[in-house]
Amino acid sequence: MTLPERHVFVCIANRPPGAGDSCGAGGASDLIERLQFQLLDEGLTERVRVNGCTCLGPCEQGVNVVVYPEGVFYTRVTAEDADEIVQRHLKGGEPVERLRFVEPS
Ligand code: FES
Repeated sequence: MTLPERHVFVCIANRPPGAGDSCGAGGASDLIERLQFQLLDEGLTERVRVNGCTCLGPCEQGVNVVVYPEGVFYTRVTAEDADEIVQRHLKGGEPVERLRFVEPS
C-alpha cells in the first residue's frame, strides 16, 4: 500500500429527527459513490482516498467536505459536483471556489 497524496473527508453524519439538517440525509452516500467512480475513471484511486466522517460543524450547509492536506472546506456539495471537484481540485490542484466555505461576517 502506498500512502495517498490527498484525503477527502465527506460528512456522513445523521442527526436525530427534528434536530435539523444533516449531511447523511442530504445525499452524502451518493456524493461518495460519485467521487469514487470519478477517481476510478481518472486512475486516481491510489493518490486520493475518500472517507466518510462524522460531523464537520455547519450541518445546515451540508453536504460538507474537507480535503487534506490543503484543508479546503466545501459546503452544499452534491453528487453533481463530484466531477468538478475531481477534475479541477483533485486532478488539477485548484480548489473549486464556488463550493468553498465562507466565514460568516
Ligand atoms: S451533519 Fe454534516 S456537518 Fe454536521
